[in-house]
Amino acid sequence: MSVLEAKGLTKQYQMGEVVVQALAGVDFAVAKGDFVAVMGPSGSGKSTLLHLLGGLDEATAGEIALAGRPISRLSDDEVTIMRRRKVGFIFQFFNLVPTLSAAENVALPLLIDGKNIKQYTQKINGLLEMVGLADRADHKPDQLSGGQQQRVAIARAFVNDPEIVLADEPTGNLDSKSGTAVLDLLRHFCQEMQQTIVMVTHDPRAASYANQVVFLKDGNIIQQLPITHHNGHEEDMRAIMRVMRELEL
Ligand SMILES: Nc1ncnc2c1ncn2[C@@H]1O[C@H](COP(=O)(O)OP(=O)(O)O)[C@@H](O)[C@H]1O
Ligand SMILES: [Mg+2]
Repeated sequence: MSVLEAKGLTKQYQMGEVVVQALAGVDFAVAKGDFVAVMGPSGSGKSTLLHLLGGLDEATAGEIALAGRPISRLSDDEVTIMRRRKVGFIFQFFNLVPTLSAAENVALPLLIDGKNIKQYTQKINGLLEMVGLADRADHKPDQLSGGQQQRVAIARAFVNDPEIVLADEPTGNLDSKSGTAVLDLLRHFCQEMQQTIVMVTHDPRAASYANQVVFLKDGNIIQQLPITHHNGHEEDMRAIMRVMRELEL
């Protein structure tokens, strides 16, 4: 079953006289428990795709269904509620609230949704433990390293048991060791907890953690590559880089 399905997804930006076609009729489906990496050169439409899938922006044409509900037919308020309850976001620059502790940042999606967070203490502590930050629960973001901040952001993205988590270059601002920790966690959430993830990345190594890679060029999906995970990351990385060369990405 598809958690997320997009058909003929099109996005045009009007820039004065010029129309920029950011997405040119993309068909895209994500099955429950899948981990999809989206790759493509700068300007190929990766962020636009992620924003549309998460209901952060509206498509010019096409349909998106999340958990079977067509979001293009919802009102703005309904989309906002759907996004809060069904979608988790992870960004390149962590986007934590600087005045809140790690635990409070994790709790934020619940607070915004009007939940009584006292009932979620165990859940929040459990997530902080999963991302290896149980002993940092009271630390503010500026007392945490970049890698630790991104792990808080991961816990936050999963706190409301979303249908899907969307990550835009989640390792783009991290050193390779912190990046690997983030990627290991995303795989763990997907493999052990049947969570569903779409991750935009430039990095073939990051993409090799996914189960499939979708290649975007000029607003079109031009190739999909299943990742086998048979012989470690090196072989998958080489397969990804081979496709990138073939497609001149
Ligand atoms: N808000 C916007 N206004 C106008 N053009 C935009 C806007 N956002 C993106 N674009 C254009 O749409 C295309 C795709 O952008 P984007 O989705 O950000 O690509 P990527 O994330 O792959 O680098 C680019 O040509 C970009 O300049
Ligand atoms: Mg982008």
